[in-house]
Amino acid sequence: MPTHDIHAETARRRTFAIISHPDAGKTTLTEKFLLYGGQLTSGAGAVKAANKAGGTKAVTSDWMELERQRGISITSTVLQFQYGDRVINLLDTPGHRDFSEDTYRVLAAADAAVMVLDGAKGIESQTRKLFEVCRDREIPIVTFINKWDRPGRDPLELLDEIEDQLVLDPHPISWPVGDGDRFAGVINRHAQEFIGFTRTARGATIVAEEITPLSDGLDTDNSALADDWATAQEQVDLLDAASTEFDLKRFQAGELTPVFFGSALTNFGVRLLLDSLAELVPAPTARLDANNEPRLIDSPFSAMVFKVQANMDPAHRDRVAFLRICSGQFSRGMTLINGRTDRQFSTKYAHTVLGRDRATTDEAWPGDIIGLISTGELRPGDAVYDTEPVTWPEVPTFAPSCFAQATCSDTAKTKQFRNGIRQLDSEGVVQVLHRPGRGESEPILAAVGPLQFDVAEHRLRNEFGAPVRVETASWTTARQTDEASATTLEKMSGVAVAQRLDGELLALFESPYWLARVADEHPELTLNRMVGEG
Ligand code: G4P
Repeated sequence: MPTHDIHAETARRRTFAIISHPDAGKTTLTEKFLLYGGQLTSGAGAVKAANKAGGTKAVTSDWMELERQRGISITSTVLQFQYGDRVINLLDTPGHRDFSEDTYRVLAAADAAVMVLDGAKGIESQTRKLFEVCRDREIPIVTFINKWDRPGRDPLELLDEIEDQLVLDPHPISWPVGDGDRFAGVINRHAQEFIGFTRTARGATIVAEEITPLSDGLDTDNSALADDWATAQEQVDLLDAASTEFDLKRFQAGELTPVFFGSALTNFGVRLLLDSLAELVPAPTARLDANNEPRLIDSPFSAMVFKVQANMDPAHRDRVAFLRICSGQFSRGMTLINGRTDRQFSTKYAHTVLGRDRATTDEAWPGDIIGLISTGELRPGDAVYDTEPVTWPEVPTFAPSCFAQATCSDTAKTKQFRNGIRQLDSEGVVQVLHRPGRGESEPILAAVGPLQFDVAEHRLRNEFGAPVRVETASWTTARQTDEASATTLEKMSGVAVAQRLDGELLALFESPYWLARVADEHPELTLNRMVGEG
């Protein structure tokens, strides 16, 4: 029986996100975590199979029709499952770079991130970008080098790449013996043992591992395996002599990354990775509020909204606000206050989420992620509490680099269009800007990447019943400005000034060159850089 002591419950929680370049294996690894967590009876592509069949029971982040059409993952999933004594809250992040702002918000709710690399490709463009977000947030990172069942690169070279390109100290905990067809298992350097694997078709089931102490050596008459074993031994000796010692503090500070090799598809190395995550990922601790004061976990209830997701259940067209609990115990039915609006709301419909499936949550603890249904007013970044107010540090809005003019193409639907536009802005799907004097009927949509416009257009049409024309605009760069500068900027050619719905004034430029020139010639103007500016 679990105890109901807040410290004991919090100590059992592990809340982390998975980040990767598209196709490195994030979905497959998530699926295998669920297999090992006892949430799936078969790990053979249940997520994808269900998607392809248009199934409604998929444990998947790909819940939007648009995602299926595009074959990409746009939204972020939250999965909760029990692993041994631990309660794992797993946050999926969109792999596509157009959604980096969303990723940034999700990482605000995570205590660590697993960075999945494709063993044949190493660090890819999106890995680097996501990593930078993690570094910015000082999140500890665990590295999983995946697809080792295929011919990969030299593992030592991959470590060098992590060190050189990410300026992160790699510390391999596991080390592969063989690769491709000859991938036989991994050496667990910390436990000084060899874990041998048996291959099954797509790792559909969990097969017992063969674990032997390293000191026993490998007894085999397979000469290729004997060669691979000898090579692995040499490499491990080299690592023992040259690589950094594992240092928990440096890991927690985001300076050192434990590295694991494996193959999510065939389950190789997944159990060791999950066991290690259950150990290494820090348990939730006090969170700093906007005044840099720690909100202790046993303080009265508080949580942070990090994501609002619409349309998770197409049958209901509802909206779920995802909250990370920061302090206190959550009990379903409790009345909470939204710090931004000072309004109370009920938590009758609280859920934990497993892809599309939901289970009612009656209680939850610091570190847990809960979904509250149809609390229309909640926005990413909001602080909620019951008795003792709190404000969280602001989650910055990313610098948009794509702009489009949106127009409602059916004048009878203007009201729906306006409501939809406001809703999309409050969820952070796109940023909505208005040019002074032009009213609300010609909003400018601003985004990090153009796929966000597709999502906005799709939702305006299908959810709000507002057919819309979205035309790409010529601006490419934005800077935050103030009213005094705006008066001057508005008179310049190639520059526009627009106001975000939150009141922030942005100066839009047609090229970075033009921005540089204006900034150079008018040093008196306020042109502040924004987060994520390329
Ligand atoms: P993502 O979420 O990071 O985008 O990657 P995803 O898991 O969807 O994996 C991308 C492709 O890589 C999939 O192949 C998947 O089966 C494959 N993959 C993932 N992990 C491994 C691994 O450990 N070894 C090997 N060999 N392949 C792996 P696909 O062809 O796109 O789909 P499918 O038809 O195989 O399902």
